[in-house]
Amino acid sequence: MKMEKPQMGFGVSSLYCFVLVLSVIVITARGQDYEVMIMLKRMIINAPNTLQWTDPDVCKWNHIQCDKRNRVIAIQIGNQTLQGSLPKELENLSQLTRFECQGNNFTGAFPYLSKSLQKLLIHGNMFSSFPNDFFMAMSNLEEVRLDENPFPQWMVPNSLKDCLALQSFSAQSVGFVGTIPDFFGNGGPFPGLVYLALSRNYFEGVLPASLSGSSIETLLVNGQNSKSKLNGTLEVLKNMTSLKQIWAHGNSFTGPIPDLSHHDQLFDVSLRDNQLTGVIPPSLMALPSLKVVSLTNNHFQGSPPLFKNGVRVDNNMDNGRNQFCTKIPGEPCSPLVNALLSVIEPLGYPLKFSQSWEGNDPCANQWTGIICSGGNISVINFQNMGLSGSISPSFARLTSVTKLLLANNYITGTIPNELTSMPFLQELDVSNNNLYGRVPPFRDGVVLEFDGNPDIGKDKPTSSLGGGDKKNDAGIIIGIMIGLVILPAIGILIFMKYRRKLNPKGKVQNPTAVVVHPRYSADGNDAIKISVVGGGTGALSPTSNVYPMEAGNMAISVQVLRDVTNNFSEENILGKGGFGTVYKGELHDGTKIAVKRMQSGTMGEKGLSEFMAEIAVLTRVRHKHLVALLGYCLDGNERLLVYEYMPQGALSRLLFHWKKEGLKPLEWKTRLTIALDVARGVEYLHDLTQQTFIHRDLKPSNILLGDDLRAKVSDFGLVRLAPEGKASFQTRLAGTFGYLAPEYAATGRLTTKVDVYSFGVILMEMITGRRALDESRSEENFHLVSWFCRMLLNKDSFVTIIDPTIDIDDEETLATISTVADLAGHCCSREPYQRPDMSHAVSVLSPIVEIWKPTEADVDDIFGVNFDMTLPQALKRWQDFEGNSNLDTTYPFSSVNTDTNGYNTKSSIPL
Ligand SMILES: *[C@@H]1O[C@H](CO)[C@@H](O)[C@H](O)[C@H]1NC(C)=O
Ligand SMILES: *[C@@H]1O[C@H](CO)[C@@H](O)[C@H](O)[C@H]1NC(C)=O
Ligand SMILES: *[C@@H]1O[C@H](CO)[C@@H](O)[C@H](O)[C@H]1NC(C)=O
Ligand SMILES: *[C@@H]1O[C@H](CO)[C@@H](O)[C@H](O)[C@H]1NC(C)=O
Ligand SMILES: *[C@@H]1O[C@H](CO)[C@@H](O)[C@H](O)[C@H]1NC(C)=O
Ligand SMILES: *[C@@H]1O[C@H](CO)[C@@H](O)[C@H](O)[C@H]1NC(C)=O
Repeated sequence: MKMEKPQMGFGVSSLYCFVLVLSVIVITARGQDYEVMIMLKRMIINAPNTLQWTDPDVCKWNHIQCDKRNRVIAIQIGNQTLQGSLPKELENLSQLTRFECQGNNFTGAFPYLSKSLQKLLIHGNMFSSFPNDFFMAMSNLEEVRLDENPFPQWMVPNSLKDCLALQSFSAQSVGFVGTIPDFFGNGGPFPGLVYLALSRNYFEGVLPASLSGSSIETLLVNGQNSKSKLNGTLEVLKNMTSLKQIWAHGNSFTGPIPDLSHHDQLFDVSLRDNQLTGVIPPSLMALPSLKVVSLTNNHFQGSPPLFKNGVRVDNNMDNGRNQFCTKIPGEPCSPLVNALLSVIEPLGYPLKFSQSWEGNDPCANQWTGIICSGGNISVINFQNMGLSGSISPSFARLTSVTKLLLANNYITGTIPNELTSMPFLQELDVSNNNLYGRVPPFRDGVVLEFDGNPDIGKDKPTSSLGGGDKKNDAGIIIGIMIGLVILPAIGILIFMKYRRKLNPKGKVQNPTAVVVHPRYSADGNDAIKISVVGGGTGALSPTSNVYPMEAGNMAISVQVLRDVTNNFSEENILGKGGFGTVYKGELHDGTKIAVKRMQSGTMGEKGLSEFMAEIAVLTRVRHKHLVALLGYCLDGNERLLVYEYMPQGALSRLLFHWKKEGLKPLEWKTRLTIALDVARGVEYLHDLTQQTFIHRDLKPSNILLGDDLRAKVSDFGLVRLAPEGKASFQTRLAGTFGYLAPEYAATGRLTTKVDVYSFGVILMEMITGRRALDESRSEENFHLVSWFCRMLLNKDSFVTIIDPTIDIDDEETLATISTVADLAGHCCSREPYQRPDMSHAVSVLSPIVEIWKPTEADVDDIFGVNFDMTLPQALKRWQDFEGNSNLDTTYPFSSVNTDTNGYNTKSSIPL
């Protein structure tokens, strides 16, 4: 028995032990992380179907990895269309190194995770928040992707600085606000960081200087949604030589692209949609690895870049606001343009210049700050432009310059010695800047102004306040004052044109309160009465020596236009045309203006910048037989144009509706004068402007008359703003049946001869008093041109087609009608090459018109404003004149190209 006891004892205790061991084994088999994982499983709503987590051993679950001790080390449940939220107990998975739940639909707060975490991918979910101190002590974390979660706005968490192993940090569209912290950069806690993606947040401010010298290979900071976006320059990129990919597009970066000559691995450069200026650095074109580059919609200048074959370039032929000197990639700019570009390089390529320096000839397009004389640059006037940076020795390459005016800026550095070699220099004004150093020895007779530079004559600047800090601001401060002086400027210009009517002595009592009463009419079909633009408030003093306006800067605020048109009320509508509605406006002082409000959609896809570019051109097209565009307004979707007013409305009114309106029919002589006016206006559009304009929609309702029944052509140039490509749309906009040249109607092929044809139709209308298409007539006589040409063949029948209201009282009248009829037939020739040029029409018509008024001098030709002058030129002239009252009877704006004060005026277009 004694033997049994121990046996039994053994048996019991061994059973006990067995149970014990068994239970330990079961617990061990389930693992320490079992309960946390069960919680996770429960909180994933659709886990049963998608994950099939059924095994009692969580380490056997799909997408889960454990270590040898059955601790969960990886959860990789990305892209499983999972829904639900995450338990906060996930933090208890103390061995977890990878957590990936990207591309699901998880909601709720994101929990804390183990400090052993190495990789965290949670992008593309609906997490509502993320702990600010999540990254604390996560010294093993290498890769983080938080992108695309609807977190409330937050700052880049400071705890991130603990992630000393960080290589890749991607947080795009996660609601970050504030500035990009400088700890991502060189000298920060992340020596191994190579991938930094912060796109589509709400960052503002500049790229931190610390990024310079960092080892970052991919930097994505594009498309910030904050109001001011990222700004400042891209200078730091210069020393980020490890870069392979940089996306900075959709921000407000300014200044030039830095030198990238050490960026051997850079393959993708996206800088579009910023405010970048300057020339494209050759180092960008030369990048050995470059594959993709995007530069559209900046303000670059110089030669359009030519990239190597195989580089994908965004449409660099159509560069939005970019202002390249030619259209041909790789084609160099003219030497003069190159000299000017190097002049503004040390000034940081201010935006102002890019916006105005158009084309390849500084003297052709009235460049900001450049005044020309006989095709040579005579004056450089960069005064009061808020410029910082230094004076370029390249000014000396502009050898024809007589006056170099740089006063009232923030320019630092010294006056370069090279300037003394400028052969024609008469005046150098650098007063009120921050220059220092010796004034180099200019030859006798050069007037030097350098007051207001405290350190001039000293070896070094006394204070450390220098251009360095300010450089980033170059080009931003500019252009504010312009708006203040636009209205007065327009007023003055108009005033000058008309003041002889108001005041035959030509004296102006109060130039800052100019009031004018010229008028305008528009594109509406019939009677239209409008009037124009007045002075404005006295922002401009005639004694001021500042003349900052340029043609093209004729912006008027929408509020002003709203006020004057009674908020675009129905009663103010003067007419409607293909491009929009024309409203009458009236300023406080009773001055009327005409405002064309572009129909939404008329502009098609064309962007703001393109519109601006067109307006800049149109504001410079000035001729006494073209209705002048006086200003414009852009505000949101509003696009408004302000025109000269023509009191007698459209030609169609006097030609076709005179009876209804109780008017006298137009005399033949008057018709002839109108025809010649139109011919001259169109001739100017075709041949005499910088670029050829084709009107495309010449017709009596686009010909407007003044009180003297002199005519002006309206609505030219607008068609260029209309969308291209859609034939039917184009026809509606850019032509009217009855006036359409056959080849244009059939093929859309557009030449100046299209206008000549329409002009011929108008002549026929003036001869016959019949409309181009006359519904009331029989089928074969419905089309004026066909009928007219048939009748023209026979002398007897021809007399019958003449408008019965025309008195054919003498041989001469009949002879001239016959001549004009021949011209009309010629203009309407079937083939474009058979039609004459507009200048031919002018030379046929002008001798006839002369017959009728041989002695009457054309007063306008003597007193007319030279519309080819820029506003500042005109103002300057006028101001000079005002200070010189003994010139009362000699109007200062004669078209004679006199040059009394060194400010040249381009010789006037023959009117
Ligand atoms: C998730 O899906 C996206 C696209 O749908 C894919 O690019 C990504 O590689 C997938 N990730 C995983 C872990 O399957
Ligand atoms: C998680 O860990 C905490 C503290 O270590 C402990 O109190 C809690 O019970 C654990 N929860 C689970 C589900 O393991
Ligand atoms: C994501 O989850 C939310 C709330 O659970 C739901 O309303 C939404 O439809 C889900 N979206 C997708 C794409 O499953
Ligand atoms: C460029 O980066 C290198 C390497 O980090 C650094 O030594 C140098 O000072 C940096 N230069 C500038 C101008 O930041
Ligand atoms: C950049 O934007 C900030 C506002 O976010 C503004 O204060 C600062 O003046 C801007 N800097 C430049 C150079 O425009
Ligand atoms: C323009 O410059 C050229 C070359 O210096 C010179 O020959 C020409 O006479 C200048 N024209 C005028 C009007 O000064």
